[in-house]
Amino acid sequence: MTRIWHFDPTPGAVNLLPDAVLERVRPAQRAVVFGGAGMSAESGIATFRDALSGALWSRFDAERLATPEAFLRDPALVWGWYEWRRMQALKAQPNPAHRAVVELAQRLPGLCVITQNVDDLHERAGSREVLHLHGSLHQARCFDCAAAHPLETMPDEPDGGRRLPPPRCAHCGGLVRPGVVWFGEMLLAEVLDVAFEASGACDLFLSIGTSGLVHPAAQLPALARRQGATLLHVNPQKPQGVADEDYCLLGPAGAILPLLLQQAWG
Ligand code: OAD
Repeated sequence: MTRIWHFDPTPGAVNLLPDAVLERVRPAQRAVVFGGAGMSAESGIATFRDALSGALWSRFDAERLATPEAFLRDPALVWGWYEWRRMQALKAQPNPAHRAVVELAQRLPGLCVITQNVDDLHERAGSREVLHLHGSLHQARCFDCAAAHPLETMPDEPDGGRRLPPPRCAHCGGLVRPGVVWFGEMLLAEVLDVAFEASGACDLFLSIGTSGLVHPAAQLPALARRQGATLLHVNPQKPQGVADEDYCLLGPAGAILPLLLQQAWG
């Protein structure tokens, strides 16, 4: 039976995490934090599938916005949408969950931070060497020659963005594309390899705010479990792929991660 614990949001409630969780977190030697959109939800950045926090993929059509074919078919539509998302990310601030990850790295040296998110809130909170499995909104590059293209801050975009022709590459004149991984594209091998290596060698794997539906990222928790790591899921709802031996801490990451730090080491 999966071990499930619920966060009680009632003001003044005493939320004591299970001893078994604290006992597995404290001595971890090689921990991994693996995050998804829920990590940034409390910063106001929309998730993809969770109706309570944005559900981008129910409001927007991924086929028209998040594939290389979509970009070539209508570059202005796609570029405008990603510029809107980039502006949302720039306006957002790191939340207590991002800050807790920084503190966790101080408690657990060697902590490997892997994210599926394309914002830079972990870095702005103070995390270093974050593995961005799905790329970054802040690192555009040429569609043709892959040269990096510096981006400027834009004024506010309307909700959902507007048609905006992408800039041209300074080297080859090709279209500049967002630096994210689209559906149908391979993940960057150098990032994926390190993520797989860290997950396969860890003793504690914290899966935070992800629905666990998108592969190959979703294979990382299972890999860690197979190698004997303790799995801890932090999410308001039980995500996909939870196994009997895992621990589920149900509630918002911005509340639970600070509690974990406080109770494990406070
Ligand atoms: P999803 O939108 O699929 O899932 C977000 C998860 O966050 C859900 O399980 C929510 O229950 C949870 N959640 C919501 N608020 C939370 C909070 N305050 N604290 C903790 N958890 C919370 O997002 P991802 O799993 O990240 O890929 O989606 C994976 C990939 O699908 C994304 O990286 C993106 C998307 O298509 C690409 O764009 C390539």
